[in-house]
Amino acid sequence: YGAARVLVASNRGPVSYTVGEDGSLDAKRGGGGLVSGLSAIGSDADALWVCSALSDGDREAVRRGVGADGVRMLDIPADVHADAYNGIANSVLWFVHHMLYQTPLEPVFDAEFRRQWASYEAYNRAFAEALAEEAAQGAAVVVQDYHLTLVPGMLRELRPDLRIGHFSHTPWAPPEYFRMLPDDVAGQVLRGMLGADRLGFLTERWAEAFTACAERFAGGLGGTRVGVHGLGADADFLRARSHEPDVEERMAALRQEIGEGRRTVVRVDRTELSKNIVRGLLAYRRLLETHAEWRERVVHVAFAYPSRQDLAVYRDYTAEVQRVADEINAEYGTPGWTPVVLHVKDDFARSLAAYRLADVALVNPIRDGMNLVAKEVPVVSDAGCALVLSREAGAHEELGEDAITVNPYDVTGTATALHEALSMRPEERAERSKRLAAAATALPPAQWFVDQLDALRG
Ligand code: G6P
Repeated sequence: YGAARVLVASNRGPVSYTVGEDGSLDAKRGGGGLVSGLSAIGSDADALWVCSALSDGDREAVRRGVGADGVRMLDIPADVHADAYNGIANSVLWFVHHMLYQTPLEPVFDAEFRRQWASYEAYNRAFAEALAEEAAQGAAVVVQDYHLTLVPGMLRELRPDLRIGHFSHTPWAPPEYFRMLPDDVAGQVLRGMLGADRLGFLTERWAEAFTACAERFAGGLGGTRVGVHGLGADADFLRARSHEPDVEERMAALRQEIGEGRRTVVRVDRTELSKNIVRGLLAYRRLLETHAEWRERVVHVAFAYPSRQDLAVYRDYTAEVQRVADEINAEYGTPGWTPVVLHVKDDFARSLAAYRLADVALVNPIRDGMNLVAKEVPVVSDAGCALVLSREAGAHEELGEDAITVNPYDVTGTATALHEALSMRPEERAERSKRLAAAATALPPAQWFVDQLDALRG
């Protein structure tokens, strides 16, 4: 047996390496809720995070035996990883849980899929074996997300002594949609998950969907318990980080781009189909069309950061976002006013700068496990912001009362919501924003993680 008493497994880990020109390795700590959540156990010498080597630098670090404390990267063969990550996890499972398959983009489960599925199994097995090797007797293991659904079952077979948890950061598909998967694959996914002692979801809705799938297709939950932990924003970190000098600098630059005395509608996403960026832009165009009073007086600050660019549908979507933004600027822009300020290069400090300047935050996903942006903007915005929020985001369960709710498919409805948000009296906006921030920070990442561990051990 190994020495680790608390183990986390996820595809994307907390650190990534790049090889410098002189051949040296440079480590960069990643952001995100999970990484900050884990800082709660980061000082614990018995904790280990198992993740994939994703970049050339990561693979070089594995070869040289270099590694951050408490992190073990798995150098999965590149073709196996590509099949598992791009082919199965991000094409099939992500699409099923976000219900993104629509004619003509329906799945074709052919021989190519079967080959990729075998890679997904091999990739999950590599994680299960590494965890089995590293875990001390009776250790707690928390496996993360749809990349690793088979791990709990595989690990259970290898190490019946462990406490095994799994946490889903995505929605879970309802049975009628989930059954789109081939029966044997659906069965494997469910049995893999049910190998865990406890499964965690971000909202009741996703937990219920999983339970319904287990009942319909796997004879019930068996001994597996299901719980809900609504990951919140990290208020202390965000408030401190958003007042650093690099953020202030970017605020000055953004103010220049926006222009004097204009309102801002801010959105920040990965360029991801489920985030519904294009319909958001169309709603903004509709606002300018039907409420001419906002022309020259508002700017849509849209950050759409590159994501999963190995997949053609993501590349096409990225191009479409750019095209629609350009169209709006060509149609309505004037020499002194650019209606849409679109940035596509990932820059966390600039995202925080936009949060601080936001009058309105637009979060309109088709379907989203939680959506942390909806929780972060009210915490950071200087004057308080109005939140236009899709009812299909997990965050809506906690923030619905003080947000302006939209149906993400309804472009004209979203335009009306934007008008309402922009027209909100400043006192009401500040009040609502305060309540949103309180709800958004109810379960900070560190507590979120500790709660899961307690529930797993309890
Ligand atoms: C979602 C998933 C995470 C994933 C993240 C970024 O939030 O739930 O597991 O890490 O997207 O996607 P990527 O494919 O870049 O890791």
